[in-house]
Amino acid sequence: MDIRSIQGIDFTNARVCLRVDFNIERTSIGNTEEHYRVAVVKDTLEYLSQFEGVKIALLTHLGRPDGAPNTEDSTETLLATIKQTLEREIVFVPAVIGPEVVDALNALPDKTLLLLENVRFDAGEEKNDIAFAAKLTEPFTHYVNDAFSVCHRAHASTVAVTHLLPSYAGLQVLRELRELDSVRFTPDRPAVALIGGAKIETKLPLIQAFERNYDCVLVGGRIANEAIDQKIEFGPKVLLPKDFNGEERFDIGPTTIAYFGQILKMAKTIVWNGPMGKFEEKPYNIGTDVLMQAILDSNAYVVVGGGESLSVLEQANALSRVSFVSTGGGAMLSYLSGEDMPGLMALRTE
Ligand code: 3PG
Repeated sequence: MDIRSIQGIDFTNARVCLRVDFNIERTSIGNTEEHYRVAVVKDTLEYLSQFEGVKIALLTHLGRPDGAPNTEDSTETLLATIKQTLEREIVFVPAVIGPEVVDALNALPDKTLLLLENVRFDAGEEKNDIAFAAKLTEPFTHYVNDAFSVCHRAHASTVAVTHLLPSYAGLQVLRELRELDSVRFTPDRPAVALIGGAKIETKLPLIQAFERNYDCVLVGGRIANEAIDQKIEFGPKVLLPKDFNGEERFDIGPTTIAYFGQILKMAKTIVWNGPMGKFEEKPYNIGTDVLMQAILDSNAYVVVGGGESLSVLEQANALSRVSFVSTGGGAMLSYLSGEDMPGLMALRTE
């Protein structure tokens, strides 16, 4: 898909509304480690900051506050993490729209970023409300979307705003599309998908998309149990677990681990989304950990996505050992399943 890029656009004296996705797991908030979803916008910030007189405001959602403010979901809770990760001065303004934002932007010192309040504190956001988008865009001259992971949502800050300002994709969104397109359309073979996690109804389109395009689809985690219980039928390329660890089926069993591991070893492309079991509770981490190791030891081009797979990699300090880590959970599923994503459609070249 051809979408409008920030590259080649002149942002001199621009006031940029930069949509990011700093929807960080609550347990990670305030921790001093560099957080991936924050770190990935560095390139776009660097690109925009080279222009004289540019002012940048960061706009994100956090959690699902249902259109009303609450202290827990305030983006102010992210301030320390963002400062630490981006290594920039940041001013927080406790508003998303209105004169407070305009004043804060006017007073913003050079090179300092403005962090707006949680955009989902306003009910207009999730309704993709154009009147809310008009207020949101009022202080700005340009809109940049570097939040791939929320592009599957048709919200005011991903879609309606693009009708009101010149709008472009940031460098992380472009990188996500490049990487995901390459594994989707031109994977080196054998190409293997490893899919786990919960909610078979959300993962089924992904399994089916890989069943069409890939050589093998390995399914574990709760979705495997659900598929078995619901007697969902797949073709021969989709492999369900042969055994489980315990009657409650909280993890795949040793035969499956060995079998899936062999297949992953031979792969030239691997896409991994979702854990193989209840990995946060020992010993049900074994399936996920052993297959993660098989992936890390393989010579394949590896693309990983989904919050849980990311945290498994993060815990093993192995984020940098895979070829590409997508920021998208639901968004990656949606993109690789071939669905149209509203936030991306809104940035398409005419
Ligand atoms: C995510 O974490 O996948 C994105 O931030 C989207 O969040 P949502 O599922 O609450 O819309």
